[in-house]
Amino acid sequence: MEIKTFKFICTPEITFGEGSINILGKKIKELKGTKAFIVIDKSLFSIKEQVKNILDKENIQYLIYDELTSEPTTDIGNYTGKLAKSERCDIVCGIGGGSSLDVAKAVSILITNDGTVEDYQGLGKVPKPGVSKIMIPTTAGTGSEATFTAVFIREKEKTKGGINSVYLYPECAILDPSLTLSLPKGPTAFTGMDAFCHAIESYISNKSNFFTESICEKAMEMIWKNLPVAYNNPDDIKARGNMLYASFIASIGLVNAGVTAVHSLSYPLGGLFGVPHGTGNALLLPYVLEAEIPEIEIKLSKIGTKLMGKKCEPELFIDELKKFERNLKIPEKLSELKIPKEAIEQITEGAMKIAVPLANNPKIFTKQDIINIYNRAY
Ligand SMILES: [Fe+2]
Repeated sequence: MEIKTFKFICTPEITFGEGSINILGKKIKELKGTKAFIVIDKSLFSIKEQVKNILDKENIQYLIYDELTSEPTTDIGNYTGKLAKSERCDIVCGIGGGSSLDVAKAVSILITNDGTVEDYQGLGKVPKPGVSKIMIPTTAGTGSEATFTAVFIREKEKTKGGINSVYLYPECAILDPSLTLSLPKGPTAFTGMDAFCHAIESYISNKSNFFTESICEKAMEMIWKNLPVAYNNPDDIKARGNMLYASFIASIGLVNAGVTAVHSLSYPLGGLFGVPHGTGNALLLPYVLEAEIPEIEIKLSKIGTKLMGKKCEPELFIDELKKFERNLKIPEKLSELKIPKEAIEQITEGAMKIAVPLANNPKIFTKQDIINIYNRAY
């Protein structure tokens, strides 16, 4: 094993376990919050009531934003930031999928900084720390509870961009598997595959190290075993818990080693055509891996052998991955997503702008390589 120098970053406090949502009120008090701004997915009616009861019991003031139905635009980020600031909220909670968590993270820094989401999209552009943030994921996939990123769609430009700042790391994450039980089959599949992409991309990343490789291997093993169970038996709390944990450790891999080309190639599918983040990643994953087998042969064989329980060459692993995704009803081709073939040139231009993951990738993809991947995936 190659010994590299590395540092390790992780959300300071993680509470994991069934029913752990009940500590929310105490946690807000511990973090000296007096009025909480809660961002929660629109569909999570009963979790919203549960949260209100917990906060009422602790006599905590709060304001709830529950209008989010899809991936957030910069306008939504700016609106919620202004609202939280004018209401003098001094702590933020994100409850839901990656979108709610990302909005909550942005609100936290918009309360204390005067700019807009657009001003801070990019790397290291946020001047001051935000208010405390508590992240409570109800999907097992995006890993936003551990990352320093909040992604927003710029509607005019039809692009997606992240605020990437150390001030976006949450102070606290509450991982309660019971909150993921209500997740429908489709999002269970595509958010679960997003987590798998975080794990495998961080695993093969140029920036991987022996710590990230070991947690990413574990995440992949757990997802391979538990995602089909959670998909077919949504009430299986053990599978849901394993998925939530695997998603979290995969995101620690992501934070410390970085995602690679799959995420770069998937971003424009979301920005231009509204393809859900996890669906785009899952669809593209086998085609991207196929395009760089010589560069990642050893790692693919190693993880393939682990997951299959028998000696597994990269090609076999990729075939099995395709079957795995078909069983989760992940679309196989871009044409199924009603993306016109003529758009490939524009999508490629968009992907090339997502430069950091491409730079982490073990193979340097040229523009033509990327066009070839999209064509094979079409
Ligand atoms: Fe992702």
